[in-house]
Amino acid sequence: MLHYIETGTGPAVVLLHAFPVDSALWASQRRPLGTAGFRVITPDLPGFGGSPLSPLAPSLDVMADEVVATMDGLGVERAIVGGLSMGGYVVMAMLRRHPDRMAGIVLADTKGGLDPAPAIANRLAMADAVQAAGRAQVIADAMIPNLLGTTTRAERGEVETAVRRWIGAQRAGAIAWAQRAMAVRPDSLPDIAAFGGPVLVLYGDEDVLSPASEAALMAEAARSGGSPTQVVEIPRSGHLTAVENPDAVVHALSSWLPGAVGHSGLA
Ligand code: MLT
Repeated sequence: MLHYIETGTGPAVVLLHAFPVDSALWASQRRPLGTAGFRVITPDLPGFGGSPLSPLAPSLDVMADEVVATMDGLGVERAIVGGLSMGGYVVMAMLRRHPDRMAGIVLADTKGGLDPAPAIANRLAMADAVQAAGRAQVIADAMIPNLLGTTTRAERGEVETAVRRWIGAQRAGAIAWAQRAMAVRPDSLPDIAAFGGPVLVLYGDEDVLSPASEAALMAEAARSGGSPTQVVEIPRSGHLTAVENPDAVVHALSSWLPGAVGHSGLA
């Protein structure tokens, strides 16, 4: 079972964090969504935060199975499952492996298609470099300009400080393992198309890693399979929308969740 933080009671909403941070990413969403009548569960994915690294070969499937084992441990049969970036890749792996556990999905700042070959090579190089250095902080400088939007970097230095601290607190082994897992992920647009349940797609208007075009591809896949699908642009935000414009993300989730719960019959 993964380490997690839980807030509130009601229909279960599981929120999965991005790479290379932990469930602190969702700290600003937990309480408002809990107060709005949801049981919000934010696990640390394997190796990150308080969760142990998996002994298995790197794969998003392993992360997906661990999230479902955590749902089992908490007595959660079905949930709305949302993920930001890497968390979104885990949601897509859950769609492949555990579709009956998914009442609705949130795909935030993520993408459904394959990485181009140079991106895969970069992932493997970063995995090797972090493992050799033995510390996560070495990747923070290179990653921050891609993770945070220009507005956040210009106006909200405290967010950059927090993200830098979160990255530095992660284990080098977890970062290497997760990069190798993301490098071998399959094309997931067909899995989004096969889902059929309610889908919310979020993206930051300043995101350079998962821009509007990626959100459009995921929404198109979802609609092609008959999913009621909503797309929300989060203003003044780069890749880490949940911390860059937390109130807009709370608003998007709390506006969409009641309809998704009703549609899926989630108690
Ligand atoms: C993330 O934020 O989780 C990462 O940018 C995902 C990725 O490297 O594709």
